[in-house]
Amino acid sequence: MGIVSVEQMLLKAYNNGYAVGQFNINNLEWTKAVLQTAQELNSPVILGVSEGAAKYMTGYKVVTAMVKAMVDSLKITVPVALHLDHGTYEGSFAAIEAGFSSIMFDGSHYPIQENIEKTKELVALTKKLGLSIEAEVGAIGGEEDGVIGGGEVADPNECKMIADLGVTILAAGIGNIHGKYPENWKGLNFDVLQEVNNITKGVPLVLHGGTGIPSDMIKKAISMGVSKINVNTECQLVFAEATRKYIEAGKDLQGKGFDPRKLLAPGVEAIKQSVRDKMTLFGSVNQA
Ligand code: 13P
Repeated sequence: MGIVSVEQMLLKAYNNGYAVGQFNINNLEWTKAVLQTAQELNSPVILGVSEGAAKYMTGYKVVTAMVKAMVDSLKITVPVALHLDHGTYEGSFAAIEAGFSSIMFDGSHYPIQENIEKTKELVALTKKLGLSIEAEVGAIGGEEDGVIGGGEVADPNECKMIADLGVTILAAGIGNIHGKYPENWKGLNFDVLQEVNNITKGVPLVLHGGTGIPSDMIKKAISMGVSKINVNTECQLVFAEATRKYIEAGKDLQGKGFDPRKLLAPGVEAIKQSVRDKMTLFGSVNQA
């Protein structure tokens, strides 16, 4: 089926009370692990690519070529979107040009008028091309590729202004943070989420910072319009932990244990288990 925009998969999720996971990819192993798990669970999936990860993989074109070819060679039949994560204005055009099926334009650090103007321009372009676009209001806290936010909470009226531009999906800061949550984290702000959902009715909402949010909060957020949940750090943590165990057990020194196909295998299995757990929690299993 190739890669698709997130529009249909997320409207279906929004109307049926579940969420689709966005799992950020870093390399071939990550991509393969996420795609195989989505197919195994018959779940739609969104592959997230930050600008830093795209640069690491040597560019948007390489990422698009790899993902499209892998969907084909692995005979993936579930809906797969290739989505730019926290795109800059320039990065959004570059990802579109390279063949991404969906972009996030993160204009949350601009004054609201400038965020509106730039988002509007990108909405027109993505609509023309049949792609989907995520916009953001109220920066998500924590650090993502060197950009540091402070666990901010979006203004529901600004969310309405951006939603009314015709964006496919909307990320609103509700106290969520990228990376690990601090001990004294106050939790998600459900009052703001409720207000945002009421005022933007019909536009699926996105929850960033999916690593470490307790399951009951995830479920409550889904019941209040969250239809896409982003997970990145968790897969990195479980991959690193499994790889460390393999090396600490001296397995790389036994036989051909140094072969990258063996050395990276426990990390890949760990990513698959995390993705399985998240897809089950989000309710996207068998929703392809
Ligand atoms: P985590 O790294 O906290 O899972 O957040 C991922 C994310 O929101 C990507 O945009």
